[in-house]
Amino acid sequence: LVIVLDFGGQYNQLVARRVRECNVYCEIYSYKTDIEKIKAMNPKGIILTGGPNSCYEEDSPSYQKELFELGIPVLGLCYGAQLMMHKLGGKVITPEVGEYGKTEIHYAPNAVLFQGMPETSICWMSHFDRIEMAAPGFEVVAHTADCPIAAAQNVEKKLYAIQFHPEVLHTVNGTQMIYNFVRNVCGCAGTWRMDSFVEETIQSIREKVGDGKVLLALSGGVDSSVAAGILSRAIGKQLTCVFVDHGLLRKDEGDEVESVFGPNGQFDLNFIRVNAQERYYGKLAGVTEPEKKRKIIGEEFIRVFEEEAKKIGAVDFLAQGTIYPDVVESGLGGESAVIKSHHNVGGLPDFVDFKEIIEPLRNLFKDEVRKAGLELGIPEKLVFRQPFPGPGLGIRIIGEVTAEKVRIVQDADAIYREEVDKAVADYKKANGEEPSWMPNQYFAALTNMRSVGVMGDERTYDYAVALRAVNTVDFMTAESAEIPFAVLQTVMSRIINEVKGVNRVFYDLTSKPPGTIEFE
Ligand code: XMP
Repeated sequence: LVIVLDFGGQYNQLVARRVRECNVYCEIYSYKTDIEKIKAMNPKGIILTGGPNSCYEEDSPSYQKELFELGIPVLGLCYGAQLMMHKLGGKVITPEVGEYGKTEIHYAPNAVLFQGMPETSICWMSHFDRIEMAAPGFEVVAHTADCPIAAAQNVEKKLYAIQFHPEVLHTVNGTQMIYNFVRNVCGCAGTWRMDSFVEETIQSIREKVGDGKVLLALSGGVDSSVAAGILSRAIGKQLTCVFVDHGLLRKDEGDEVESVFGPNGQFDLNFIRVNAQERYYGKLAGVTEPEKKRKIIGEEFIRVFEEEAKKIGAVDFLAQGTIYPDVVESGLGGESAVIKSHHNVGGLPDFVDFKEIIEPLRNLFKDEVRKAGLELGIPEKLVFRQPFPGPGLGIRIIGEVTAEKVRIVQDADAIYREEVDKAVADYKKANGEEPSWMPNQYFAALTNMRSVGVMGDERTYDYAVALRAVNTVDFMTAESAEIPFAVLQTVMSRIINEVKGVNRVFYDLTSKPPGTIEFE
C-alpha cells in the first residue's frame, strides 16, 4: 500500500491513478489523517500532493515533522515538496513570478527518481511559491530557468521533493518517475492487477454474502454493469438486478442491456426489466421546465424501483456501483473540496428492506472498472460506453418530452455516433493512433425549435437537431471537439434524409463554461 496524502490540489486523483498504473495499490487520505492511523496501515511509501496554499502561513494544511522520520519513503509533489522542505529546515518563498505550463528542465545524472531519462526534458509546472533553500541533508537534482530547486533528494532518509507535476501527462517521463519511486525506492512488488482483483473480490463477496440475497439497481452504465457482472460470478442467482427502462435511453440500449444480463445472456442472475416508458411519458407530458423534468424522472425511478423491491421482499444486501472517485468526491477519501454529493454515496433508498450495503468497486478508478469489466467478459460496447446522464434523453430534449421527440433524438444520435465511431476507426487504421479531436462525449440533442425548409419541392416546418462533441479531462470544463467538417456533413445529410421530422442540423461550438455539456 502507498498512501497519497491529499493537501487539496487539483491533480490528486491523477497521482493515485499513476501509482496504480505501476500496479501498486494506493489510497487517498486527507492531510488531517492521524499519524497513528498512517503507521497502523504500514504503507510502503507516502506521497504528499500539491495544494493551493503557502506552506509557511499559519493556518495552511500541514503535517507533523514526525512523518518524515518514520523511515518510510516520502515523495512530496509541488506543495508537498515545499512542505517537506519547510518542515525540515529549508526555505520556501513567494517570488514575483510563478511558473505555469510546460517548462524545460535539467536533471542531475545522480537523481534517483530521474534515472534513465534524458538530462534535459519537459515538465509541467504549476506553482507560485518555490523552494528558495533545500533543507539540510538534501541535494538539488533538477532546475529550470525560473526555479533553481525543481527537485531535491535525501537518498539516505528516502525523502524526495519534486516541484513540478509528474502525474500530469505533459511531464515527459512523469509516470517513470512515479514508477521509480513506488517500485524502486519503496520496493513495492507491483502485484496489483485486475485479474487478481476480480478473483479476490469474488472470494470476498462470497464470504460476506454467504447464502444471503442481494439486490442491485442496474442502469446499464459501466459501473452498475461491472458490479452486476462481478456479483453474478460470485453468487449467481442470489443476485437480483432490476433494470428500469424509462424510455429515455439511447436507441436499442434497453435491448442491449437485456441481451447481456437477461435470461439469454452470459450471466447467471435474476434479471427484472421494468418497461416503464409509458409511465414516464405520462408524467412528463406538458412539463417543460428543466429542473422539474429532472425531478420527475428521478422520483419516478424511486417509485418504480420501490414497487419492484416490495415484490422481491426483504434482501440481505443492497449492492451499489460506487467507484473510488465517487468516494473521494463525496469528501470521504481525500481533501479536495466536496464537488458534489454523489448519488451513489449516502442517500440510500430507505424503502428497500436490507441489512447491509455492498460496494464491490468502491476502491477502483474508472479505467480499472473498465479493465475489470473486460476481465469479466462484459462486451466492449458496454464497458467503453460514454457517460450518459441518469435522466437520459429527458435532458437532451429541450422542452416537453414526447414519444415522438424521443424517437427523433434516438435516431439522430445513433447516426451521429455511428459516423463519428467510423471516422475514428478509419483514422486509427490509417495513423495507428486516435485523432487529436477524439471527443470524450458526443451525442445529438433535440432543440425545441422548428423552422422552414424545403425538401423535394415541398415546404417543411420541422425540428432542428443539435450535435454536441466535447474534449474534456474531468467533465468540469470542456472544449467543443473539432470533428472534421466532412464527417459533420455526412451526419447532417444522413439525419435529414433518414430521420423524419428533422430539416436542420446545428453543431454546438460552446465550451464549458459558459455552456454545460448537456442541454438541460
Ligand atoms: P454537464 O451538463 O453538467 O455534464 O456539463 C457534465 C457531465 O455529467 C453528466 N451529467 C449527468 N450524469 N446524472 C448523471 O449521472 C445527471 O443528472 C447528469 N447531468 C449531467 C453529463 O453527461 C456529462 O458527462
